Amino acid sequence: MDDIKIMAIESSCDETSVAVVKNGREIISNIISSQIDMHKKFGGVVPEVASRMHLEVINNIVREALEEAKLSIDDIDAIAVTKGPGLVGALLVGISEAKALSYACKKPLVGVNHMKGHICAAFITHKELEPPFICLLVSGGHTYLVHVKDYNNMEVIGKTIDDACGEAYDKVARCLGMNYPGGPEVERLAKLGNDNSKKQKNEEISKEDVCASFQRAVFDVLIFKTEKLMKEKKLNTLVVSGGVSANNTLREEINKMCEKNGFKSYFPDKILCTDNAAMIASSGYYEYISGVRSDLTLNVEPNLELEN
Ligand code: KG4
Ligand code: ZN
Repeated sequence: MDDIKIMAIESSCDETSVAVVKNGREIISNIISSQIDMHKKFGGVVPEVASRMHLEVINNIVREALEEAKLSIDDIDAIAVTKGPGLVGALLVGISEAKALSYACKKPLVGVNHMKGHICAAFITHKELEPPFICLLVSGGHTYLVHVKDYNNMEVIGKTIDDACGEAYDKVARCLGMNYPGGPEVERLAKLGNDNSKKQKNEEISKEDVCASFQRAVFDVLIFKTEKLMKEKKLNTLVVSGGVSANNTLREEINKMCEKNGFKSYFPDKILCTDNAAMIASSGYYEYISGVRSDLTLNVEPNLELEN
């Protein structure tokens, strides 16, 4: 079979990213332009600002991704784009770009679910990884426990009823006077703190202790539920993905739980944990080879669920 090269566009939140990926697993280019410095000033992502910034850079990022891949658009088999979930205005920029390119260059178009993309990020890092497995997906917008039955067949078994894991990190950070995004900074302080601070009597509680205790509370419940589900489903392969899976302490504790049970754990490379277009290209590839095509009526789906 000939190689299949997918160019993907991701613009669901505050990263504008374009990638070219071969056969779903091999990155040829993956350009990520982050807006974090702009949103830091406001303590979080301002949706209208995000849309405008995507619009300013997207044409250049497409050009850069092709240049770095040393390819022209003629060499591309299909264009994949994040259709949701995400911020409506931000998604619209990526979708409009993808539709324009698809129409002008006569390339098939594939709308991709951003959450499936987060799961597929692990296929890029681990060439031998194949479904079925359980995925703990912890991003800024979602916390999911997913039964990944096949590349295009995924069932959400559990999710948070309120804030997502990354969002909770960002809010804790904000309450403690730290910058957006909160995850990396909370992780750093947590390492210096005591995760049993509630037991301390008449002692001043430091930011470090709050971070450590928060992180302990989050990880204990996530790992307990993940372990329970893996035993229930009799699966011994675990993928942890999404922005929070960049957290080293989470990685260590997941690995401990997996070693105890004889499970195997997989994490995407850190650059593929947070938002990027390579993961969208990977998911787009598996959709494409199974025959999925979008047409020019493709529209944003800000509240898209994982199974769709
Ligand atoms: O997956 P992602 O890039 O975006 C969404 O699709 O939502 O995740 C971003 C989230 C942010 O909330 C950020 O604080 C969190 O991932 N994050 C982390 C770490 N790095 C990023 N959370 C905990 N520890 C980290 N090292
Ligand atoms: Zn994401």
